Amino acid sequence: MTTTASQEAFLQAFHAEYPAVTAEALGTGRAPDGRSSYELLCDRVTGSTRVLDLGCGDGFLLELLARRAGRELAGVDLSADSLALARRRPALAEAKLEEGRAQELSFADDSFDACVSHMALMLMGEIEHVASEVARVLSPGGVLACVVGGGAVGGEAYERFLALLRAAIEEVPAAQRIPALGDSRARSREGLDDVLGPAGFTAVDWETVPIDLSGPVEQVWSAVSGLYDLGPLDRATVERLRRSFFAEVRDMTTPDGHVPCAFNIHLATARLR
Ligand SMILES: C[S@@+](CC[C@H](N)C(=O)[O-])C[C@H]1O[C@@H](n2cnc3c(N)ncnc32)[C@H](O)[C@@H]1O
Repeated sequence: MTTTASQEAFLQAFHAEYPAVTAEALGTGRAPDGRSSYELLCDRVTGSTRVLDLGCGDGFLLELLARRAGRELAGVDLSADSLALARRRPALAEAKLEEGRAQELSFADDSFDACVSHMALMLMGEIEHVASEVARVLSPGGVLACVVGGGAVGGEAYERFLALLRAAIEEVPAAQRIPALGDSRARSREGLDDVLGPAGFTAVDWETVPIDLSGPVEQVWSAVSGLYDLGPLDRATVERLRRSFFAEVRDMTTPDGHVPCAFNIHLATARLR
């Protein structure tokens, strides 16, 4: 098995168990202006009619995009189980939802005005193939708009969770560690410029936005514990992690029971020349 194939097999197995985990964890998160990370992305393609979502998961973003009448929507994802949830959304009855790889799109040349991708591009191996496929299916002048993860904001619960998680992962056998996923160039403006420039895109417009996930400790735990790294951990390790997390955030819990939690996203946009 190639490295990319084993990464993709991991993602498929994970999402077979947790098909809607990202939207459940992040759908209620809010930027300082009150929009979710999904809404921020939607608003990057307001003028586009034909829109493809790369790594569409359970269709949460596509459903938001469908609120604008007259759109032709499509989504591609590795996970049959996530797509099954997307297909159940009445708003997506007309959308083309395909199981497949962003590196090998089944759509014809010039099929879309925009490609969007929420928390998925940074998981994709062979990213040059993704860039050339997106360039092929976009019409000239079309937009690629992505949200990629930007890590903890700092001084809040997610930062503490990551420290606990790192320590827990050091203790477990290698079989309980996830493979390195994707291409780190998708997580920086310079890296994305390196990948997208040769495929014919303009320089990337890059914005970093904090997304607030604060709430009662149970809710914050359920958001942070959706990370891929927890998938292969045995139950006892996850339970220990949960207990340590609850103890670790006690001193930052507000009198009304809220735990401050936030993470950064990068919102990247480039146009096909
Ligand atoms: C973190 S989830 C995000 C799902 C959805 N975009 C959301 O934000 O709710 C990443 C998704 O990307 C998909 N994915 C990862 N690599 C992919 C690839 N090479 N081609 C198609 N889908 C991929 C996964 O199967 C998964 O559903």
